[in-house]
Amino acid sequence: MRIRNTEVRLRVIFNYTILCLACTTILAIAIINFMEEITPMLVHLHTQAQVGCNGHVELCDRRYSNITQIATHDSAFVGILPTDDQDVDVTAQLDAGVRFLQAQTHRNVVGTLSLCHTSCFLKDAGSVESYLEVVKGWLDTHPKEVVTLLLTNGDNVPINDFDKVFTASGIQPYAYVPGPSHDPSILDSWPTLGELIGNGTRLVAFLDYGALDTVPYILPEFLYFWETPFDMTDPSFPQCIIDRPGGVVNDPAQSHHLMYIVNHFLDTEMLGMDIPDRRDARKTNSATSGESINAQVRLCQQQHDRAPKGILVDFFDKGDVFGVQDALNGFENAKT
Ligand SMILES: *[C@@H]1O[C@H](CO)[C@@H](O)[C@H](O)[C@H]1NC(C)=O
Ligand SMILES: *[C@@H]1O[C@H](CO)[C@@H](O)[C@H](O)[C@H]1NC(C)=O
Repeated sequence: MRIRNTEVRLRVIFNYTILCLACTTILAIAIINFMEEITPMLVHLHTQAQVGCNGHVELCDRRYSNITQIATHDSAFVGILPTDDQDVDVTAQLDAGVRFLQAQTHRNVVGTLSLCHTSCFLKDAGSVESYLEVVKGWLDTHPKEVVTLLLTNGDNVPINDFDKVFTASGIQPYAYVPGPSHDPSILDSWPTLGELIGNGTRLVAFLDYGALDTVPYILPEFLYFWETPFDMTDPSFPQCIIDRPGGVVNDPAQSHHLMYIVNHFLDTEMLGMDIPDRRDARKTNSATSGESINAQVRLCQQQHDRAPKGILVDFFDKGDVFGVQDALNGFENAKT
């Protein structure tokens, strides 16, 4: 009995030590992140001017499929914890000029469709419905803006549940529904931004897995896009590989008919887990010629003859992601 008690006690002490170490590490990272954030927090983000379509007169006649957009990866995970990918909330992201939002969904413990990072126990950033309400409110007050939303469906939630929250949030009437003449494999099937704005369909919503024709305004991502690999830990991003969907991986010729997304967010390892690399974000998101985003995009253009539709980044407020975006869309202050 004595021996067993000692064993149990040792095991408990061991477990608590591991837990304390983990908590201390997370706390230390949070404090370092907070210190790094204090200075930039005092600087106001530039607010994008309300001219033309999505800020540029030239974009009104440009097809949706022919416009490159910086996208905020995990747009709902805002804060200073290791589970956070962005510094400012979705309204501030939109105000600053982000027009492509990506967000991760899961069901939380009571079954609500929520924005959670891998698991709702790690990070629960609230319901998908309240997130959509915020985006809807922003669209209401910004009538010349088209916003793309890419949701992931980590828990394989039925499409009808997405339909319910889109409808309840009031955003559903804004969603673009491809007509019979829109062929997903023809890039020029896409309307121009001017047409989307004219029709009031200023939200283009995609879901990675689980979309069905029965909810026609939530488009199946991989019918329209392919993607490069994500969770990269090599800061030089030395590839533009087709990672998903499987059909395009096996038949790369198909890639020419689709838009594509470059995952340009850098991870670093902590306690055996990949977490967003906040400390290198300025470098990762720099617009310096021939480096980082520009270097990876150049590789993509060489291999795939076209610029990406979306470039997913973490901590979009660091570096100069809009410099990259403007240059790729052919506007002045081009920095490539
Ligand atoms: C848009 O079209 C131009 C001209 O064909 C091309 O260079 C550019 O890569 C295209 N951009 C996208 C995102 O398709
Ligand atoms: C705009 O709306 C009209 C009428 O509903 C429709 O026929 C047309 O296809 C729409 N255009 C686009 C670009 O969605």
